[in-house]
Amino acid sequence: MLCQVHRYPTDLIDVVWLRDGRRLLIRPVLPQDEALTTAFFGSLPARARYERFLAPVRDLPPALVKRFTNIDYASHLALLAETFDGGRETVVAEARYARDGRDASVAEFAVSVAEDWQRRGLASRLLAKLLARAAAAGIARVVGETLAGNEGMLHLARKAGFTARPSPHAPGVVLLERAIAPAPPNLHCGDLTDPQFVAA
Ligand SMILES: CC(C)(COP(=O)(O)OP(=O)(O)OC[C@H]1O[C@@H](n2cnc3c(N)ncnc32)[C@H](O)[C@@H]1OP(=O)(O)O)[C@@H](O)C(=O)NCCC(=O)NCCS
Repeated sequence: MLCQVHRYPTDLIDVVWLRDGRRLLIRPVLPQDEALTTAFFGSLPARARYERFLAPVRDLPPALVKRFTNIDYASHLALLAETFDGGRETVVAEARYARDGRDASVAEFAVSVAEDWQRRGLASRLLAKLLARAAAAGIARVVGETLAGNEGMLHLARKAGFTARPSPHAPGVVLLERAIAPAPPNLHCGDLTDPQFVAA
């Protein structure tokens, strides 16, 4: 399915240094990132893929990879974090939100970080960027689902201001939810990761 592509949000491109001193590029995904995206999810342990998709996924179906990389940056936004070690471009994390098809004021988010890059604040940074952008885009509520035993995700989400409650639909699944306040008009893009603009 073809989607209307809004302007590529260059203001979301960022170079970040993690707590351990390693440097990463964060940028919105591009249609030519299919192979990088496939390689990233393929590199995750089976357990991490299960935690991300809440299902046993071995290889991402090509149609899903296309959907993940051909986005309109408005109803669907995805950020990649990547390295260029040894001249090789490698994705080490991805985070995205997609608006609910029935209620555009609600968006669902998900995030994954490669094992070697976890517990360095990367998912928190990506989520903060997504939430700030969601606020600027007029999204009022961000939701997510995670396994009840996913301590990392639960900790990350609670720290980012999400509430967590058991899913009434799926046993062992927790619903994460957070209201976000609209960003003030004329907010400079550089201000978008300021926590004051994402607090409800
Ligand atoms: C969950 C996940 C995204 C966290 O990524 P991350 O980059 O390690 O997260 P951060 O470094 O930003 O950590 C955020 C907080 O959670 C804590 N945390 C991270 N992993 C944790 C774990 N396994 N157990 C307990 N706490 C954990 C961190 O210590 C940090 O808290 P602190 O600032 O108080 O120290 C990552 O573990 C992952 O990709 N898991 C597999 C996929 C998945 O579960 N996705 C979520 C479903 S959408």
